[in-house]
Amino acid sequence: MPLSNRNSVAARLQAMADEGRSSARTLSHQLAPADYGQLSQQLAALISGEKDRVANLANCAALLWQGMPAINWVGFYLLKRNTLVLGPFQGKPACTRIEVGRGVCGLAAQMLKAVIVGNVDEFPGHIACDLSSKSEIVLPLILDGRLIGLLDIDSPEVDRFDHIDQQGLERIVQVLIAQL
Ligand code: SME
Repeated sequence: MPLSNRNSVAARLQAMADEGRSSARTLSHQLAPADYGQLSQQLAALISGEKDRVANLANCAALLWQGMPAINWVGFYLLKRNTLVLGPFQGKPACTRIEVGRGVCGLAAQMLKAVIVGNVDEFPGHIACDLSSKSEIVLPLILDGRLIGLLDIDSPEVDRFDHIDQQGLERIVQVLIAQL
């Protein structure tokens, strides 16, 4: 093949790759949903044999940060004397303490149930740690029947989380809880 043709093929391939990358960024959530089965297996391997709670929460936050598209914060709040205190996380610095009953986290802690908020601007009492957050999912961590903390994930996209994310993340939480 003449050099000029080779170059134009290479240029087209590069353009396709660039286009693919940019639409993957725009539609990251639709094109590549999180593979919760794989993430659960990776988490089990990561925390296997380690009993330190902070180490395991930190690795779980880092794994979800890498493996979940379209999120801007993921981390834990730990229940201490009836207050939720910031634990290991990835993302921008966040508020340190949340009272049970306040915000999305406080609601999940009070109800002991997962909470999905499609648009945080429409949730009365939402605590904004990062103004780019638009939707949120919070899952309780329940060990031996008692609440020990929460997994909190924020997204810059409205309606980022659905029941499939909830089920997948419940699986992640089960793996994690067994090792806390
Ligand atoms: N938005 C949460 C506060 C924690 S941050 O999102 C990290 C809430 O309303 O409880």
